[in-house]
Amino acid sequence: MTELIWEGKYKDGKKVAPVRIALPFQTIETVNESVQERQRALDLSFSGKQTEWRNRLIWGDKKYVLPSLLPEFAGKINLIYIDPPFATGADFSFMATIPDNPESEEDESSQFTKEASIIEQKAYRDTWGKGLDSYLQWFYGAAVLLRELLTENGSIFVHCDWRVNSFLRVVLDEIFGTSNHRAEVCWKKATKTTAFNDFGSEHDSILLYSKNYDNFTFNQLFRGLEDDQIKKNYVYVEKEDGTIIKLTKKQIDGIEPVSKGKRFRTIPITNMNKNRPNLKYEFLGHTQVWAKSKDKLVEEYKQGLIIQAGDGTIPVKKQYLESNKGVKVNDLWIDIAPVQGGSLENTGYPTQKPEKLLSRIIESSSDGNDIIADFFCGSGTTLAVAEKLGRRWIGSDLGRFAIHTTRKRLLQIPDLKPFVVQNLGKYERQVWQGAEFSNHENRNLQEKDYRNFILDLYHAEPVNGYVWLHGFKAGRMVHVGAVDSPVALGDVKSIIQEFWKSVGKPTDKVGEVRYNGVDILGWEFAFDINETAKQQAAASKVDVKFKKIPREVLDKRAVDAGDVKFFELAALDVKIKSSSKKVEVSLNDFVIPPDDVPEDVQKAITHWSQWIDYWAVDWDYKDDTFHNQWQSYRTKKNPKIELSTSYTYPDKGKYTIVVKVIDILGNDTTKAINVEIK
Ligand SMILES: C[S@@+](CC[C@H](N)C(=O)[O-])C[C@H]1O[C@@H](n2cnc3c(N)ncnc32)[C@H](O)[C@@H]1O
Repeated sequence: MTELIWEGKYKDGKKVAPVRIALPFQTIETVNESVQERQRALDLSFSGKQTEWRNRLIWGDKKYVLPSLLPEFAGKINLIYIDPPFATGADFSFMATIPDNPESEEDESSQFTKEASIIEQKAYRDTWGKGLDSYLQWFYGAAVLLRELLTENGSIFVHCDWRVNSFLRVVLDEIFGTSNHRAEVCWKKATKTTAFNDFGSEHDSILLYSKNYDNFTFNQLFRGLEDDQIKKNYVYVEKEDGTIIKLTKKQIDGIEPVSKGKRFRTIPITNMNKNRPNLKYEFLGHTQVWAKSKDKLVEEYKQGLIIQAGDGTIPVKKQYLESNKGVKVNDLWIDIAPVQGGSLENTGYPTQKPEKLLSRIIESSSDGNDIIADFFCGSGTTLAVAEKLGRRWIGSDLGRFAIHTTRKRLLQIPDLKPFVVQNLGKYERQVWQGAEFSNHENRNLQEKDYRNFILDLYHAEPVNGYVWLHGFKAGRMVHVGAVDSPVALGDVKSIIQEFWKSVGKPTDKVGEVRYNGVDILGWEFAFDINETAKQQAAASKVDVKFKKIPREVLDKRAVDAGDVKFFELAALDVKIKSSSKKVEVSLNDFVIPPDDVPEDVQKAITHWSQWIDYWAVDWDYKDDTFHNQWQSYRTKKNPKIELSTSYTYPDKGKYTIVVKVIDILGNDTTKAINVEIK
């Protein structure tokens, strides 16, 4: 057998298998779920019963997402479409929009390019780090697992451009079998190219494979006739009173109006095969070999379906435009335009594919309630189309902005069914900690190794003899949060206490270093920590800063490349007004620490609300998942955002309101507020 070999495909004579660690998913948000549905889901899961299906949007690397889906979904996904990144880095950067200042008449919205985050760049290096070899290994690992996820009658569409097309086809042939290669769709993605010294590329290839040769879902589709074909062929109109007119050239060219009626063309009824003596007879004055028996033609003539276009001319059959299903869709797709800049469908995501393209894929290769998946969902085209066509869906992407764009896009669909947003959060980090830091027998030593590693990345020195303080840097103490739990308010209290007890007052010195604050590094933080803890810290006269340990710490190569940056948390100020059972929540201020934002963007923003792209409220947070019960967000059509909302509680009691803000850079900030309804 012919086989494509790349460096890294084999180790010790065996094919290198994909990572198969199955981690549990964490639901971080439910969207569009009513209070009743939420309660029903809680009751069902409490009683150990199967909960109802929820569509799933997963934020994560396919490397972990695919094996983690296998225990539940092996053999259960009916159709997969993937549009994996190609050899360009453009997939991760995006145009962020600065909306206009609500308090200024002159100000206008503007755009800037948000470069790929470090983790996204890293993923890009992951796939292309060693050129084509590493890309193929990366793709091979994914394709093996994707095949396992498919139902026996399932199929997969792999969208690729001319740079990798030939290689991916050979890899897919190996995994799915050459006989299961059903089509190479050629999609005309551009109307013109600017290449004049070369043949510009106007198409992408979409490779279609089925899991099995003789059992796969396929619905033959037809596409509408092109205007040209209609103009050229359908030149007759049958008016309501039965009279027939032939259109003039001016009418055909649209210069003069066309009379009302049914448009039709004529098709011959003579037989191509002249060697059919039994079909040779006289009909309407013409002796010919006809396509059908005389009885049938006479019947059709009586029904008015056969006419003579001119006096004594050879009879022909009418074919109405309205009954023409169109042209059978084959593998050349030239009738689907790319997403247009000004269209409502355009989300601003650079690699967004048109909904029409995904409709064709989903309609041709799935039915009714089937599960459709896209593990590189980008702006969410596949998921939006699956939702509109009533299919169930699972989507994932590594990019933070992709998840945010998709969520907003889905929210705009009328009658959107509830869905959940998930990630692998702490489980992914636990796996990493276990694999990276040996000392398995001694948990304390393992923890210490881990903390020293983070301190090193933060360019801090370790300190000994403290419980909550782990290092120091530039005159500040440093705390390193655990991998598996968010930094909580209680932790901050203990950190401050220890700071006072052991390190002392701001004037104290340890060696030559003067400590005047604490940097608290964490993977995740309790919802309202930034403001509440800062108030506490200020009251104790300790300057506390919260910084996020970035996800790329999990990747050795990113660490070796030295591109790990710890960003400070944004601060959100929310005002609450309540009267009787009604509570009003208003956003009051929002501050993004400057280190993640280009200087010109900072200058362009003159009102804090311009930072906010989306916000949502859970009126009754129960310490589990954020339930998105209300939201306001900017869209192309409506770029304004509301800054307050209210809710009337049905019952008295104590409630926790959680407000979640997503800024124009795609980062989220949450705040919890306790209220009592009397
Ligand atoms: C070509 S875009 C997909 C665009 C999408 N079809 C649409 O219509 O918007 C490729 C996507 O793959 C994502 N991606 C790249 N590497 C990934 C990985 N290792 N795991 C998951 N997603 C990844 C990128 O964030 C990007 O959104």
